[in-house]
Amino acid sequence: MKFFIDTANLAQIKEAHDLGILDGVTTNPSLMAKEGIKGQDAVMQHYRDICSIVDGPVSAEVIATDFKGIVDEGMKLAALHENIVVKVPMIKEGVKAIKYFSDNDIKTNCTLVFSAGQAILAAKAGATMVSPFIGRIDDANWDGVQLIEQIVNVYNAQGFMTEVLAASIRSPLHIVKCAEAGADICTCPLSSILGLLNHPLTDIGLAKFLEDAKNL
Ligand code: G3P
Repeated sequence: MKFFIDTANLAQIKEAHDLGILDGVTTNPSLMAKEGIKGQDAVMQHYRDICSIVDGPVSAEVIATDFKGIVDEGMKLAALHENIVVKVPMIKEGVKAIKYFSDNDIKTNCTLVFSAGQAILAAKAGATMVSPFIGRIDDANWDGVQLIEQIVNVYNAQGFMTEVLAASIRSPLHIVKCAEAGADICTCPLSSILGLLNHPLTDIGLAKFLEDAKNL
């Protein structure tokens, strides 16, 4: 399973990259706004900055919701860097745009996916990746990990090449469960990635080794 970081914060992207386990980055308008990035030029420069840190797919989301707007915006984003993946919402115009991008060899990440039916449509249109938001599904009292399993099973049964990118990760356990479910990619906040390091028996064991090492 590939590890992406789900943030637009450059310091956090660098920290995850320095761990040596980072395969890519996902952003969205909420994450960009959180960093205080204002204006089209600043947004574009921020994507370039992210691409200069990580040598892997960087999802940049369109704001437009009509076919022409999505295509125009997506083409500009894709021209920024070869690693840019155009992130398109799961709406009718978005599906049409994903098909257009797919026909023109531009990589896409279909976002805001909450059902297997939506994932099938995205794959049919030729999306490179599909992003089910598992934390938000859990918030709504359904089972987000179960949706990952279902989409992975459907894609395997049908031979779809679209990668399942588990998004809206809220905990280290989500990452483990998505790996178990067969997700191709998990995009996570830094806190969930670092949370994978933790086990009290590791801390206790290391303290004992260091104590005993004093007698060597
Ligand atoms: O990748 C999608 C993600 O940013 C959404 O996460 O925590 O806002 O549901 P969240």
